[in-house]
Parts: sequence; structure tokens; C-alpha cells
Amino acid sequence: MKTAARDFPILSRKINGKRLVYLDSAATAQKPLSVIEAEMEFYTKSNANVHRGMNTLSRMATEIYEQAHSKTAKFINAKGMQEIIFTKNTTESLNLLAYSLGEKLKSGDEILLTKMEHHANLVPWQQLAKRKGAVIKFADITIDGRLDMDGLASKAGRRTKIIAATGASNILGTVNPAKEIAKIAKDCNACSVIDAAQAVPHIAIDVKRIGCDFLAFSAHKMLGPTGIGVLHGREGLLEEMDPFLTGGDMISSVTLQGAEWNVLPWKFEAGTPNIAGAAGFGAAIEYLEKTGMENVEGHEKELLKYALKRIGEIENVKIYGPAKGPRVGVVPFNIEGMHAHDVSEMLDRHGIIIRAGNHCAQPLMHEMGIGGVCRASFYIYNTKRDIDALAIAIGDAKKVFGV
Ligand code: ALA
Repeated sequence: MKTAARDFPILSRKINGKRLVYLDSAATAQKPLSVIEAEMEFYTKSNANVHRGMNTLSRMATEIYEQAHSKTAKFINAKGMQEIIFTKNTTESLNLLAYSLGEKLKSGDEILLTKMEHHANLVPWQQLAKRKGAVIKFADITIDGRLDMDGLASKAGRRTKIIAATGASNILGTVNPAKEIAKIAKDCNACSVIDAAQAVPHIAIDVKRIGCDFLAFSAHKMLGPTGIGVLHGREGLLEEMDPFLTGGDMISSVTLQGAEWNVLPWKFEAGTPNIAGAAGFGAAIEYLEKTGMENVEGHEKELLKYALKRIGEIENVKIYGPAKGPRVGVVPFNIEGMHAHDVSEMLDRHGIIIRAGNHCAQPLMHEMGIGGVCRASFYIYNTKRDIDALAIAIGDAKKVFGV
């Protein structure tokens, strides 16, 4: 892990004359050279459209594109490529579900969510509920930022059709018990949906072990390019669902009167996909596999422990999130007497990149009783030196603001 930073060209640049300290991987991760090169190689050697045309270039592009599906399936231990749909991002994956899976919902059916969700796993379900007259219920959060699992179980019942929850909170870092959530859904014949955007990049995910019906995540948070995301779904359920987007490539035959759908996963991938993105995504998965997800997890755990202590020691700094239990490398904090945006600006002067604001989770902010929060988030290229730099810069920001 010590050498990881060297693989990321951007990390050698300076920001405001200072060494770049990138602490915003929960928003998007930096890319290793191998990912950047994979995209460039695709454009310089194999650029053509996929599944179209009997020619050498199209065959090469198709192979790269399909291999990326297979690598993704293996990475999360899915049954196979047929269970891996490439989308634009996690948000599109969840919208696809809210339309295609949601189509079967009837008035009075229930969707069970949590108060910890990113807007991407909330707004599509709100819209679905409006269209169908369905009811949304929410599992509460405990005082220390965990999911109230007894409450969640008690809210699931005969009318529950979908239980959708985050695998790891983008603000608190809390890792939720996805296997238990999937079991609660199964016991009431509902479908389980895990928003794993903040989980797949950081912890080894095995969909067979979890037993969930659907899992959504994005390539860009796991060293891959932007503009490509994943929806994993159980084959049987995907077979039963109608496509979300329609048009080219997702059909097997078309007449003037109607169309028949292509086989999985192409039935859900209408139009020319992000082929270069898939090439880069495949390289990102290879990089993570070579690193070993257990090493990724171990490294982040160590950094998190160090950061909670180091930042926690600073006077008038409040850290949020669970003190115990599984948590990814995310540290949300506020400095008493300073607005989160001011903190972010001040840290930027030190070359430190964090995110500040409501982090696309306004209801969670409301639950926490705050308007905004600073968030430092880590990945494999971060070191304790980065956290020391953050601590020093926080001290400096406090001095400037006199707090
Ligand atoms: N969902 C991303 C975040 O939490 C953008 O920052």
C-alpha cells in the first residue's frame, strides 16, 4: 500500500503551491495510470461500436466490453455476466429499478427505506410511490449513527414489496448489515436492493453470501472512469422485468408493430454504451484485485482509527458517526463556529481536498440536526501523513477564524 500513491499521476501535482492531499474519494476516487492507459489504448487501437458489424475492430471492442462485464461479475461473485447491467452510475441503476421493478407495484404496497439514504436511493422511490400510490416507510437511525435493525424488521410486513438500503453511508461511513437486510426482505417476500456505491470500492462484496436481489454501484468511486455504473440483479428477477430504456441493441427483433427483447444483460443496455469507460473499469477491477480487497479494507481501517484519534483530539472539532462497529474510511466533522464551506476553502489553501455541504443526503442532515458537514474520505493512496496534514490545516483554519 506504501507505493500505491505512485500509481496515481494526479497525486504528484500541487494545489495552491502545496502537495495535493486528496481526501474526497467518497465523491470520486483518483485513477491509477493503468485505468487511464486502458481508455487511451481502447481509443488508439480498438475504437468501434460493440455488437455491431462483422469486422475486426467491432469484435475487439465487443470483447473488451463483455470482458468488463465478466470481470465485474467475478469481482462481486455474481452468477455471471448476465447479471451485470452497465448503466451510467449508481443513480441510473436505482432509477432503472424504480421503473422496471417498480412497475409491478400497486396502490397501498410499501417500500421500506432508511433515514440514512443518499438522494439517489430516495428520490426515485418517492417518484415511484407517487406514480403507483405506494407508501414509503423509513427505518430509523440510532443516536450513534447506526441503522435501527429491530425497527427496520418491525416495519417490514405483508405489504412490503421493496426494501432498499445503503450498504455504507456516504456521510457517516456506517456499514450496514446487508445480509440481515436481505434476509428480512426475503422473509416477507419483498425484493432487497443495496445501494453499494460506498461499499464495493472499500470492502469485499459477495452477492451470493449477502443474498440480496439487487446491488448498485459506480465505477468512478472504485478507481474507474466516470460515466459507468453497475446494476447487479438476480437473473430470474431481471428476466421478469421490462426494460427501462428501449432502442438499439436491447432488442432481438423488431417489427413495425412491436419488439422482442435481447438476452440479459443487453436487454437493459439500450444504445451505444460507454465502451471506453468499460475498458477503464476493467483495468480498475484488475488493479483492486491485484491489491487485494482485504488489504484495501485493512489499510482504510488503520487510517480511520488514526484519523478519528488525530482529528478527534483537536479542540472544538466534533466528529460524527458510529464509534463502534464496521465503518468505511469516512470522517464527517464540523469545527465549532465555522461554516463547513469555509473550512473546505481554508483546507484547499493547504492543498487539501475534502467535501463540505449536505452530501446529497438532506434528510440525514436533518436527522443529525445540522445544516452541513465537512467530510474527509480515504482510499488506498492515502497515508497517515495526509491525515497529519489535515490536522495541521484544521488547526490553522481555526486560528484564522479565531475559533
Ligand atoms: N455520492 C457522492 C458523495 O457522497 C457524490 O460525495
